[in-house]
Amino acid sequence: MSKTKTKFICSECGYESLRWLGRCPECEAWNSFSEELVEDDKLKNRSLKKQTVKATQLKDIVSAEEDRIKTNIDEFDRVLGGGLMPGSIVLIGGDPGIGKSTLVMQAASKIKDKVLYVTGEESNRQVKLRASRLKVDSENFYMLAETEMDNVIYTMQELNPSVVIIDSIQTMYRSELDNAPGTITQIRECTAQIMQLAKSTHQIVILIGHVTKEGMIAGPKVLEHVVDTVLQFEGERNHSYRILRAQKNRFGSTNEIGIFEMHDNGLTEVSNPSEIFLSERDHQSTGSSVTSSMEGTRPILLEVQALVTPSNFGNPQRVATGFDYRRLSILLAVLEKRAGLKLSSANVFLNMAGGVKIDEPAVDLAVCCSIASSLLDRNIKSNYVVIGEVGLGGEVRSIGQIEKRIQEAEKLGFEAIIIPKNNFKSVQGKKNIKIVPVDNIHSAINTVLQ
Ligand code: TYD
Ligand code: MG
Repeated sequence: MSKTKTKFICSECGYESLRWLGRCPECEAWNSFSEELVEDDKLKNRSLKKQTVKATQLKDIVSAEEDRIKTNIDEFDRVLGGGLMPGSIVLIGGDPGIGKSTLVMQAASKIKDKVLYVTGEESNRQVKLRASRLKVDSENFYMLAETEMDNVIYTMQELNPSVVIIDSIQTMYRSELDNAPGTITQIRECTAQIMQLAKSTHQIVILIGHVTKEGMIAGPKVLEHVVDTVLQFEGERNHSYRILRAQKNRFGSTNEIGIFEMHDNGLTEVSNPSEIFLSERDHQSTGSSVTSSMEGTRPILLEVQALVTPSNFGNPQRVATGFDYRRLSILLAVLEKRAGLKLSSANVFLNMAGGVKIDEPAVDLAVCCSIASSLLDRNIKSNYVVIGEVGLGGEVRSIGQIEKRIQEAEKLGFEAIIIPKNNFKSVQGKKNIKIVPVDNIHSAINTVLQ
């Protein structure tokens, strides 16, 4: 009988300790240790097999972009960097119920090559039910309701699919380990086993992972380090929009996002996000401005809403949804000091409409204009787009990708766009839209308010 002992492993960095620690000495995370069984002997005592591996010269390795396997869902392919790279491991994380299984199943049905969908969460019949809802009837789609890794590996070898989907990695287990499925050791070992096979056979593996209540992909950083691509599928439950974002991508940019909408019969792609984000805009209300944010290579026009109310007692409230709270505090201070707006005793609520999260400085000026509009109770000219970064001196600073942003505003029929003065030279006189250069928030607010 093998001796089993327990160890405590930090879920953030994988640091191992013989006793529980409140704070990890390695990564300084609090309360991150969990108890794990360690059966070093079993794994260590395996004797080295006779090896036939050989290193290859770099020039002899052929790898081409055209080898990528397309999911044929444009929004998904773009986030992946142009499709799935053979031999790569993709981890898709997200809250339960956000639509991960739906997304991969729709992708699987459109992939031209053979796909194996391994589900540890649902039975074959449940998956079939979903598949008929999504109208999936691809001949290349194979199902396996299984949680034991050996059986999965066996099927992968037998069936030899080009793409394997594991839904979810937290339900899989290796029978030689006594740990329960979902523990760090199990997740790590299962991933290692599948990776070993996939890298040699050039099969693509898509792992689905749940997000823990702390907001991390469970099985944590340990997994994120070993896979090639980490995608996050997010959205608000109350909104039908879902955003697929790359957190890490060895084969593409991490700036791209894919936007989807959840319907009764699955996810549909949103290829014109600006129109959707602006569709519910109320032109008559104060505090609403339109700005342009670059999401990867695409400019997206969206509505910035602010509501400023007097605070009658105590500390005024500041709430930001979809925007950095600290950045809001800075902009409020700048507005107070440089534009003379009395905000220190006002409640300020800021919202990026549509449930998107924006961390681009180019939206600063629109945030300032919305706040000024709500405070002064004056409407913003409804056909204006406002872009620009705001500095601590109240100056409006230049931003990148100005051409693309102007084009998008023009495309959607906006009458004018307010841009930083320093960006003006490069775009002067070229466009069919009125371009208004500004150099400080004061003149921006004066121009944009009715
Ligand atoms: P699911 O893909 O099972 O989520 P996850 O795998 O991330 O846990 O999706 C679950 C939710 O999506 C569920 O609440 C129902 C909804 N849904 C639809 O609205 N339309 C559909 O066609 C499908 C398949 C699911
Ligand atoms: Mg699921």
